[in-house]
Amino acid sequence: MAAAIPVLLKTWLCLAFVLTVMADVILGDDDAPQAASEKGDSSLPWSDFRLPKSLLPMKYIVKLHPNISKSTFRGRVTMRLQVMASTDLIVFHAHKLKLCVKNVQYCKDARIGVKKTGYIEKLEMFYIKLSRPLCVDTIVDVDMSFKGSISPEAVGLFKTTYSHQSSDNSDPTEQVNAAVATQMQPIYARRVFPCMDEPSFTAAFEISIIREKHYSSLSNTALVSTTDASASCHGCVMDKFAKTPDISPHLVAMVVFENKAKITEMSGDYPINVFETTPKLPGYRNNIVNTAVRVFNFVKNYLDISEPPFKYVSEDGFGPFAYLFRLYS
Ligand SMILES: *[C@@H]1O[C@H](CO)[C@@H](O)[C@H](O)[C@H]1NC(C)=O
Repeated sequence: MAAAIPVLLKTWLCLAFVLTVMADVILGDDDAPQAASEKGDSSLPWSDFRLPKSLLPMKYIVKLHPNISKSTFRGRVTMRLQVMASTDLIVFHAHKLKLCVKNVQYCKDARIGVKKTGYIEKLEMFYIKLSRPLCVDTIVDVDMSFKGSISPEAVGLFKTTYSHQSSDNSDPTEQVNAAVATQMQPIYARRVFPCMDEPSFTAAFEISIIREKHYSSLSNTALVSTTDASASCHGCVMDKFAKTPDISPHLVAMVVFENKAKITEMSGDYPINVFETTPKLPGYRNNIVNTAVRVFNFVKNYLDISEPPFKYVSEDGFGPFAYLFRLYS
């Protein structure tokens, strides 16, 4: 692949769509009535409730830029797909996003271009119809930008708050701080970035988050670098996280919160990070860690695993941390 000349098929087919229809469907049931009624609708390029298996995701490079004060987010995703069966159709999930296909890069055939793009609202699927079919055993990169709104409810990328007290007790009044977090399960990843949002479509994720300096961000894996992102927004930086092992999109987690909350790394049998929004006495903090270790030991014996299933504990009822799993590869 490396030797082939990458051909940029500049498409810039910007197709904006905003969906207002709330989907009330659960993936996972092959015999869902939607699937049956959709089949045979020849006007749509794809009508099955499940995604086609001709393309499988290998890797996603996701850059997310939430703006908490404006309750919006934007981002960029590159989906690297492996061609399992020859096809001219790329189908994936997206919901309540404004999407713009920037580029389809295919090493194999310079003459492949984008013929048509569209949205299948009922299935929450977006499709890209190519001018010629892709060959088996090749790789195609689909580069897209997207925009959306931060949800007030705990679905997709949502806004939340936590209260905080100053650590030196100089100001006993509680302050309310803003945060955004993700809740991707079971089918909400598609509301945060376009992806093949079915549990069996696992892939590696390389996640970056753009934030203002007085915020912090977390994701599934360890932070790799923090670089300047003032081109994206004034005084902003970008946190880049290590590549995850192959996981389903619904396991991706991201949190951005104001720096007033504190994370202390405690090492017992293994490191655990305690998320605190109000200062705790050391003994109290030890209690939290001991409880977490007991829970882990139970899960370890039950599931027969050696790695801790989580890396953060929060005693402050800051729910989003429930979704951060330890996934160091
Ligand atoms: C959010 O939007 C405001 C107003 O446009 C801007 O001043 C701020 O820098 C933005 N923050 C981020 C993180 O983009």
